[in-house]
Amino acid sequence: MKVDVLLGLQWGDEGKGKVVDVLTPHYDVIARFQGGPNAGHTLEFEGQKYVLRSIPSGIFQGDKINIIGNGVVLDPALFMDEAKALEASGHALKERLHISKKAHLILPTHRILDRAYEAAKGKGKVGTTGKGIGPTYTDKVSRNGLRVGDILNRFEAKYAQTKARHEAILKSLDFEYDITDAEKTWFEGIEYMKQFRLVDSEHEIDHLLKQGKTVLCEGAQGTMLDVDFGSYPFVTSSNTVCAGACTGLGVSPHAIGDVFGIIKAYCTRVGAGPFPTELFDATGRKIRDLGHEYGAVTGRERRCGWIDLVALKYAVMINGVTKLIMMKSDVLDDFETIKACIAYKMPDGEEVEYFPFEIEGVEPVYVEMPGWKADLSRMTNEDEFPEEFNAYISFLEEELETPIQIISVGPDRAQTIVRYQD
Ligand code: GDP
Ligand code: IMO
Ligand code: MG
Repeated sequence: MKVDVLLGLQWGDEGKGKVVDVLTPHYDVIARFQGGPNAGHTLEFEGQKYVLRSIPSGIFQGDKINIIGNGVVLDPALFMDEAKALEASGHALKERLHISKKAHLILPTHRILDRAYEAAKGKGKVGTTGKGIGPTYTDKVSRNGLRVGDILNRFEAKYAQTKARHEAILKSLDFEYDITDAEKTWFEGIEYMKQFRLVDSEHEIDHLLKQGKTVLCEGAQGTMLDVDFGSYPFVTSSNTVCAGACTGLGVSPHAIGDVFGIIKAYCTRVGAGPFPTELFDATGRKIRDLGHEYGAVTGRERRCGWIDLVALKYAVMINGVTKLIMMKSDVLDDFETIKACIAYKMPDGEEVEYFPFEIEGVEPVYVEMPGWKADLSRMTNEDEFPEEFNAYISFLEEELETPIQIISVGPDRAQTIVRYQD
């Protein structure tokens, strides 16, 4: 049996939560492999809207197993909030949600460190989500981290040692903070987590695969936020690309099957950093308004622009995308002209079609196409698509040399058009 991977190809918020929810009936297991509560994955169905942070988006459908893998960083306090809210809304999860003992813990001081490092960067700040993601992964890589499995054995001493180390750093940065309340809730979260099955996700997935079960890995963030291949240093601190599913769950590369690449019909970004196709005009504002482009958790305004095929070709290549899924097509329903970036003009005037080392200061080279001026959100079958929208789909498929299997025409689970099944 194969493990399929679903991930964002842009700067996050492509609509991963919605698609995972739509695809969940075809899988037995849904697993998160990286990131943490910096993610906000939105799902809408039956008139309800949910935003998930650390819990996989398969949690709403049937008796699927949901796994939080070793590559994830988990904040016990936020996890408890999220899990309790789901339980209160009638979605039992204790039996269905398993957590890797090797996932790293975000401490209250990690969140403070995140803020302190951002403040120290001044104008060069990344615009992080402030959830302690960078400092937690830093501790992991520098072999100082605390893991979920640690909570089962002499945890207080390990915690105190790590906290003391963080406090020394914060003192050296002269950063004021108070974690008294946060720490109390955090320890409640630690106790709460003990009710869940704490597992070795690598063994569990291997076992499930041998039983013939199917697994869908749910990425967080997007390829352009990958710590190696994204717009460094304006990135997150994990490998968001397909390879992250292998290291973040303990899955062999041989086991990877389909790689679903999620794209918006345009492009957005939150936080700082280069964004070649960003629109600063009325068109950008129109996309933001029509697409409700505000952070799912923070409410931060998302920067909006046209689709960037230079970056997308790079993302398709790195991830080995086998199928594309296009989201938010309906947001472009009312535009006379649609643009797509097919090359970058470098600061020295040279035009390139490959994704260069530095994208700061590049200018997009566009092709223009007529808009479709029709209400896609009511359509239920691709036979209803207007000619201009079909032309946009074909253009993207040709440029990216990958078929678009699913088209999303609205936020609801039902507003999804599957063009073909294998
Ligand atoms: P994720 O982080 O990739 O899961 O994406 P987010 O949930 O942060 O952002 C996607 C937003 O777009 C959410 O508010 C979704 O409800 C919404 N959305 C998803 N698909 C569509 C779509 O096809 N059309 C419209 N209009 N909204 C969509
Ligand atoms: P989902 O899974 C969009 C961005 C932040 C910041 C940078 C680093 O919902 O697509 P971090 O807190 O990770 O250290 O912030 O990454 N970022 C996201 N942008 N969607 C996300 O997640 C993001 N997670 C982090 O805005 O620029
Ligand atoms: Mg999001």
